[in-house]
Amino acid sequence: MRAGFIQFTPVLGDIEQNILKICKLVDRTDADLVVLPELCNTGYHFTSRQEIETLAERIPYGKTTEALYQMAKAKGVYIVAGLIEKSGDQCYNASVLIGPAGYIATYRKIHLFFEETLWFDPGDREPAVHDIGICRVGLMICFDWIFPETARVLALKGADVICHCANLVLPYCQEAMVTRCLENRFFAVTANRTGTETQRGKSLHFTGKSQITGPDGSILCRGGEASEESGVVEIDPTLARNKAINPYNDVFGSRRIEYYEELMKQRPR
Ligand code: ACM
Repeated sequence: MRAGFIQFTPVLGDIEQNILKICKLVDRTDADLVVLPELCNTGYHFTSRQEIETLAERIPYGKTTEALYQMAKAKGVYIVAGLIEKSGDQCYNASVLIGPAGYIATYRKIHLFFEETLWFDPGDREPAVHDIGICRVGLMICFDWIFPETARVLALKGADVICHCANLVLPYCQEAMVTRCLENRFFAVTANRTGTETQRGKSLHFTGKSQITGPDGSILCRGGEASEESGVVEIDPTLARNKAINPYNDVFGSRRIEYYEELMKQRPR
């Protein structure tokens, strides 16, 4: 299968313009599964809960999900994209998985970063894996990368390909995803955004360099720092089902879970 990312610079607060751009970029990308950045239809640098509420959409009935579905159907592609989900009074930093036959799943970011913690409600569900036929997809969003538990849970649930929508401002994630892939033996598609957003004198710069990483930690494709582009590679997702490191060691089978009890506790001693 062909897995890909799209990286670009969304316009802060302009959903209509962003949807048009996203559709154009998806149309130009020849892939079976394509991942877009976190909050790709709204931009990122918010300064109030009210802004978030204005831009939030119901999933799957909102205009972004609908536009993505029309693209998925027309192109025969699976799409993962980040947006703000409105559910009751809650607003989540979410990603959707949509296929040619319609909406499949939503993930609500469980590890909110920096001022996101002021504006968004934290995800309230376990990260899940979705079998789309061509592969098993695990969803995570941006800062989830710094918690190895997120990737491990998805791996243990059978993910072949992690679809990682991102708005990265720290420089470490792309290298860290090499380790996440090595320790879990899955593929990861990190779709990051580009550009700078300035609000009330504070700037956030997004680092681009979207990346597709293989189960052996190899970087299969990496985008530029500032360019709007897509990257696509041919992958065999079944390679992610072999967890052996060598005939004696296996990233799942060689674990000594009887010695990991601390992991289940909320606070370190
Ligand atoms: C991030 O989680 N957007 C850094």
